[in-house]
Amino acid sequence: SVSRSACNSKGSMIVVSNRLPFILKRNEKTGELERKASAGGLVTAVAPVVIRGNGIWVGWAGIHLDNINEKIPESDPNDKTPTAGLLSSKIVAIHSEPQLFDSYYNGCCNGTFWPLFHSMPDRATFIADHWRAYIKINEEFAEKTVFALKLLKENKEKNGTSPPIVWVHDYHLMLAANWIRQRAEEDEIKCKLAFFLHIPFPPWDIFRLFPWSDEVLQGILGCDMVGFHITDYCLNFIDCCQRNLGCRVDRKNLLVELGGRTICVRPLPIGVPFDRFVSLAQNAKPVLSTSQKVILGVDRLDYTKGLVHRLKAFERLLQKYPEHIEKVVLLQISVPSRTDVKEYQDLKEEMDQLVGRINGRFTTPNWSPIRYIYGCVGQDELAAFYRDAAVALVTPLRDGMNLVAKEFVACQINKPPGVLIVSPFAGAGEMMHEALICNPYELDDAAEVIHRALIMPEDERTVRMNHLRRREQLNDVDSWMKAFLKAMDSLEEEADDIGAT
Ligand code: G6P
Repeated sequence: SVSRSACNSKGSMIVVSNRLPFILKRNEKTGELERKASAGGLVTAVAPVVIRGNGIWVGWAGIHLDNINEKIPESDPNDKTPTAGLLSSKIVAIHSEPQLFDSYYNGCCNGTFWPLFHSMPDRATFIADHWRAYIKINEEFAEKTVFALKLLKENKEKNGTSPPIVWVHDYHLMLAANWIRQRAEEDEIKCKLAFFLHIPFPPWDIFRLFPWSDEVLQGILGCDMVGFHITDYCLNFIDCCQRNLGCRVDRKNLLVELGGRTICVRPLPIGVPFDRFVSLAQNAKPVLSTSQKVILGVDRLDYTKGLVHRLKAFERLLQKYPEHIEKVVLLQISVPSRTDVKEYQDLKEEMDQLVGRINGRFTTPNWSPIRYIYGCVGQDELAAFYRDAAVALVTPLRDGMNLVAKEFVACQINKPPGVLIVSPFAGAGEMMHEALICNPYELDDAAEVIHRALIMPEDERTVRMNHLRRREQLNDVDSWMKAFLKAMDSLEEEADDIGAT
């Protein structure tokens, strides 16, 4: 068994993530750096905990800084978002040579791990140079995190005596934890280390395709606690630890043993800031015309989101059920993403062509079936779309969780409500039982499910949506944050002898 020093959520928190919780932009006229607030749910929940505990955020600012001493600006005085209170002295930014960062981010993170972990190995590239860049940048993150730990140690009076929690996020940083542990031990700095993966963890027969898969597991296992969205991903990870590294594992209690340490693996399904979306929906002005029912899709333009399949399923619907012609539109919002990666550029081309082809096939003098927005939409407008749509199509081929499904139900305040369609291959599909489930690969069935959603009686819609909303309100992003802190608190008790495998 392993002894653990006491850990409780009263300690400070250091968050380590590829992106800082805001974006830096350079003012073209003055050349000065400016902070642009980020509205993501994760930031909403985590930033207040970091600020409250006098903690630190380590990450990449979204641009390459001119030099190592260039100061991160304070937030704008009018900024009311949760990161506004994060002082620049509490931010440690990563510096890297642009080409190295490109091999790490576009190469290894988005060219290798993203497709591989979404079980799409044919889209993944395995390039030793990219992997070397990934190692280097992870080392840089680890070094900056140890620097942050030292800052906290110097300020012990302010930060209390509980050891800080270091929380490393996502597939960009799977090696950092192990180095942070080693360096902290050398410098006699106490801390508790956690990792959370925001994307799926693949089954062993996919994971093992990565040539340096052992190193990835060893990196993650540097933590005391490893969190995933759902139990399936936990079990995949445990399986890989056992089969790749020969670790002793306990599938019932979700434990892995390595080098005399016991690592807890936990399902921690993330939620959304539910009440914030409700109030956005209450206040947003209507933007959609009421003359047609709107089927809504909102996604980053990413091949994992099943957008091509979705458009084809919609085409099939119009072909099979022509009664929907001129009565229904598909509003697809595709947010530009990772535009330096070829797979994403190709998808953009394919979508543009497909939208053109389907619209060319079905458009009448007064109606077009697809409205396609390639760009970002503001929070208010988005809430209005979510609120006023008749159907939301959340049909990824693979997705760690998918927050669009949850944001949609939060905004469904109209009576009678709309219908959520969700893919069983998204983490969200696992728990949102009252949604209509649709396998995006089966176009005929997908068309049937959309038809069923469009003709669903009001009372059935109401019952389903009430259940969905209640669950998401209860399991919102703050409750995810609390569950994480609770899991960190209870590490001590869990670290008993490992049981049967
Ligand atoms: C996913 C990942 C996040 C990432 C986001 C946007 O949700 O889990 O870590 O930040 O995509 O992708 P980007 O590459 O723009 O950061």
